[in-house]
Amino acid sequence: MARGLFITLEGLDGSGKTTQIRRLAGWLKKRFPGEDPVLTRQPGGTETGDLIRTLVLDSRSSQLAPMTEMALMFADRAQAIAEVIGPALEQGRIVVCDRFTDSTEAYQGGGRQLGSEPVLALHRLLCGNLQPDLTLLLLPSLEVSLERARRRNQRAAEQEGADEVRFEQEQDGFHHRVWDKYREIAAREPGRVVLIEGDLSLDEVHDRIVEAVAARLVSAAS
Ligand code: TMP
Repeated sequence: MARGLFITLEGLDGSGKTTQIRRLAGWLKKRFPGEDPVLTRQPGGTETGDLIRTLVLDSRSSQLAPMTEMALMFADRAQAIAEVIGPALEQGRIVVCDRFTDSTEAYQGGGRQLGSEPVLALHRLLCGNLQPDLTLLLLPSLEVSLERARRRNQRAAEQEGADEVRFEQEQDGFHHRVWDKYREIAAREPGRVVLIEGDLSLDEVHDRIVEAVAARLVSAAS
């Protein structure tokens, strides 16, 4: 059976990925009745991954060394590929993943200044160099992203007692480096990464996403 379609969404915290993934899933279900896209996220998406997510995002993990953080992100990813993403793609299904290795390159490679090379090397070693067919990179302005992320985390803390603020607590320089690295990845891989920039409305972003996915589906079919 032909490999399914692997779509990833990327962006800074508060870039609107979660909302857009929900809308994209709705669109995919309408366009392909009977197809049930696999929605997953990183870190998380498996039981092991959820444990890793708690460990890396909790503000009490403030002593985590950058290399440890990178290793944990890859431990999460290797498990997700073995348990969820790999099997689904082998069955020919559409997989939509909220973050993938571009996040590690942007946050640990850029933000933590570990550089791209170790990230790409670990990706080859631990993830079989699995590449998304399409990556949608949402880059609204840094100010808008950070403000949204703060509001979202505050709501989650109030409603669910969640503590996922460790990255959000980073200084502006960190977020600027993440931003720059994302742009660098987009420039390096224009065939895979579709950059959706600016402070667009939810509908405008959704329309761009759907346009890019439809184009990829046409090229995959031909
Ligand atoms: P999110 O699930 O709300 O997008 O948050 C996940 C956080 O983890 C976000 O701040 C980015 C960070 N992250 C990394 O630093 N490296 C990674 O490889 C991944 C997948 C996420």
